[in-house]
Amino acid sequence: MKTGTLLTGILCLLCATVALAADPIAIKFSHVVAADTPKGKAADRFAQLAKEKTNGRVEVTVYPNSTLFKDKEEMEALQLGSVQMLAPSLAKFGPLGVKEFEVFDLPYLFDDYGQLHKVTKGPVGKSLLDKLADKGVLGLAYWDNGFKVMSANKPLKEVRDFRGQKMRIQSSKVLDAQMRALGANPQVMAFSEVYQALQTGVVDGTENPPSNLYTQKMHEVQKYVTLSDHGYLGYAVIVNKPFWDGLPADIRTALEEAMVEATDYANEIAKQENDDALAKVKASGKSELITLTPEQKAAWKKKLVEVHRQMADRIGKDLIESIYQETGCDCGKL
Ligand code: LMR
Repeated sequence: MKTGTLLTGILCLLCATVALAADPIAIKFSHVVAADTPKGKAADRFAQLAKEKTNGRVEVTVYPNSTLFKDKEEMEALQLGSVQMLAPSLAKFGPLGVKEFEVFDLPYLFDDYGQLHKVTKGPVGKSLLDKLADKGVLGLAYWDNGFKVMSANKPLKEVRDFRGQKMRIQSSKVLDAQMRALGANPQVMAFSEVYQALQTGVVDGTENPPSNLYTQKMHEVQKYVTLSDHGYLGYAVIVNKPFWDGLPADIRTALEEAMVEATDYANEIAKQENDDALAKVKASGKSELITLTPEQKAAWKKKLVEVHRQMADRIGKDLIESIYQETGCDCGKL
C-alpha cells in the first residue's frame, strides 16, 4: 500500500472516531397527549435535564400528541427499539401481557394522591414495575396525571343515566367492566381518535382527567362533564431494556438522576394542572360541570366497587388486598 493511501485511511478512521465520540446518543420519547399536560411537561423537563446532566452527550427528542406513534403502535415500537422511551397510561399495559397494572383502574380504589403515592412510591409499585423486565421493557418511574371526570352529551348523574351510552375507554378490561357495571357500552379506541369520535357521534362520551379533556378540546364536543373522581389515571415511564442496559454506566446514572427530578416535577404539577384545566373548561362555557350529590356518589360507588370483585381473578386478589392495606380502602371483601 502506498504511504499516501495509508495516511488517508488512518485519517478517515480518526475522523469517524471523532464523529462517533461527538454524536450525542439519541433517545426518542413518544407520547400521545398534548405538550401542555402533566405528562407532556414532565417529558420536556426530562429531555432538558438529560442534556444538562450528560453535558450534551444525550439528546432526548420528545414527540407529543401521537405524532410518532398511536397507543398500540407505541408499545410495539418500544419493544422493537424504533423508539426508546414512552410513558403510557397504566391502563394500557394489558396488551403487553402485564395486566396487573390494571389494578390502578379499579374505580374508587384511591381517594386522593396521598393514598396513591403509598402504592406508587412503595414496594407494591416497585414489584409491578419489575414485572416489565421479561417483556424487554424497563419501568423507570410513575408519573401522575389525576382523577377522572365522565363526559357525555347528556347529564350523567344517576347510574341509570349511563344506560346504552357508548363510552370510549382505554384498552383495559377493568375499564370495560367499569362501564358495563354502569350499564354503558364500552368502546376501546386510541386516544388520538377520541375527539373526532365524540364530534361525529361514533361514541357518546368518555372519561379522562380534566387536563386531557381540555387540551384535546373534548369539552367543546361534550355538553356535560360530571366531576366524579371515580378513578385514577397515571403513567409508567418505560424504556427499551436492551438499549438502556447498553448505555455507558455514567450516562445511565445521569439519566436516572434526570428521571428522579422529572418525576418529582411531574408529581408536583399534576394536581394544579388538572385544577387549572377544569377552571378553563368551566370558563369556556362549552360544557356544564356537574357535581354529584353525596347520595349520587354513594350510588356510583356501590355499583363500581363490585368491579373489584369481578376483576380479582384477572388482576390478582393478593395484589388488590395489598393495595387495600396500604390505602385503608373501604371497599368491602373480595
Ligand atoms: C387516554 O385516555 O388514552 C389517556 O390516558 C392518554 C394519556 O396518555 O393520558
